[in-house]
Amino acid sequence: PVKVSKICCIGAGYVGGPTCAVVALKCPHIQVTIVDLNQARIDAWNSADFKLPIYEPGLEEVVRQARGRNLFFSTDVDKGIREADLIFVSVNTPTKKSGVGAGFAADLNYVESATRRIAAVATTNKIVVEKSTVPCRTAESMRTILEANSKPGTRFDILSNPEFLAEGTAITDLFKPDRVLIGSLQTQEGRDACEALAQVYANWVPRERILTVGLWSSELSKLAANAMLAQRISSVNALSAICEATGANIDEVAHAVGFDSRIGPKFLRASVGFGGSCFQKDILNLVYLSESLHLPQVAAYWRQVVEMNEYQKSRFSKTVVDTLFNTITGKHLAVLGFAFKADTGDTRESASISLIRDFLQERAYVTIYDPKVDDAQIWLDLSEALPSWPIETIKKHVSIARSALEACRQKEGIVIATEWKEFKEISWQAVYDQMSKPAFVFDGRMILDVEKLQQIGFTVKVIGRGDRL
Ligand code: NAD
Ligand code: UDX
Repeated sequence: PVKVSKICCIGAGYVGGPTCAVVALKCPHIQVTIVDLNQARIDAWNSADFKLPIYEPGLEEVVRQARGRNLFFSTDVDKGIREADLIFVSVNTPTKKSGVGAGFAADLNYVESATRRIAAVATTNKIVVEKSTVPCRTAESMRTILEANSKPGTRFDILSNPEFLAEGTAITDLFKPDRVLIGSLQTQEGRDACEALAQVYANWVPRERILTVGLWSSELSKLAANAMLAQRISSVNALSAICEATGANIDEVAHAVGFDSRIGPKFLRASVGFGGSCFQKDILNLVYLSESLHLPQVAAYWRQVVEMNEYQKSRFSKTVVDTLFNTITGKHLAVLGFAFKADTGDTRESASISLIRDFLQERAYVTIYDPKVDDAQIWLDLSEALPSWPIETIKKHVSIARSALEACRQKEGIVIATEWKEFKEISWQAVYDQMSKPAFVFDGRMILDVEKLQQIGFTVKVIGRGDRL
């Protein structure tokens, strides 16, 4: 196998940035260049004061150590490609918005452009690695494009190396991955390319955690892992509805169920619904794949995981309306948290957006606070969620606060949408004192000390907790 000495990563986003920054940190002998077409993003990665384009605990430290040593960020995509012997393709693969498969299939336009660029520019052999999450057999299309457009004598080996990091814990996930998965063709050349990439990871990942499989299995495993993780959340959320109706407590149920070593305790937290850029997109992609393969029962099975999630979000908004005496028109609500989970500034598919949309459609006034999301992002997301509302109308109904305490001032209801730790620690007594009574708190993340809040005087509604004792 070739010894990799120069790596290029196409796509400086949530995956490409942290992943290749960690490769650079752990492999000082390899030069890593992360390229992107987005000048603003690259400028932020290069910024003198380390104002990086994404917030991720521990990331700044990694970039501080490696940047300028063997880690570089650039918009010169062609140079990056030309110099590298291994290229990660880590571009976005969002759900298609129009055309065949709209709303389900992955939009592979960015993967194709990046692949065509590699073919056009490369003058030496390259190992091309799919890092993006793609439908099964995308590697085949990449190979066809590369081979049809390459210079004579240049060879391409294609690997699949899906990324399993979760946002908010990306750096620890990358430092100590449960596994690294590499898929390759089972030919001598395929296995050699696989070994070349495995040697890069072996600089810090124990060999037994580096799994090597066939290309198609690797591609499908990524969709499968996300589908099964999301399915656990939808299962627990479905049970949370039963808890609310019966007086059972989902925390206790999940604890009891998770004690079974075959089930395990992780990822059983009921919530206001899962968000993030991956789960919904990847399941819809799996649904589309199943339908294309004429497997309608399989498609329906996975589709239900997403439908349950939609139900969970709307069920929670309905609880808020029902509890506030069946109307929130003209009422003032605080929504704490806008990111799709704690420890990230990412808002893609955040449940918070759906809740706020529902509240605005009921003509409530909403004050939002999130410690890491920029105002501009909030306005953009709300405009997209309410396409028929002019931004001035949205701004008449929504304000953004600088602290949780400020957001909660003189509200009729407070909604916890993201599990930021600081929401547990605000002075709930102070919040209570200036709320109109009865004072309602809706905990969509099960983070608050309910008994304490009840003692203060709040009426507390918690996801998955029945009122009937
Ligand atoms: P992102 O949108 O944050 O980043 C993608 C970047 O690629 C953008 O900055 C974009 O400008 C750039 N880009 C697009 N086309 C390009 C081209 N032709 N040349 C150069 N740059 C180009 O996306 P992301 O969240 O990093 O996700 C990337 C892939 O990784 C997706 O397929 C996603 O499904 C997968 N993934 C994401 C996560 C996650 O937690 N976000 C986890 C695992 C896997
Ligand atoms: C996910 C996968 O975990 C990761 O392996 C993959 O590479 C990308 O997709 P991510 O979306 O970043 O990662 O975060 P994750 O921690 O999985 O959370 C996704 C959503 O599920 C969040 O909205 C989170 O709040 C929610 N969630 C998670 C729950 O509601 N309950 C849980 O028990 C766990």
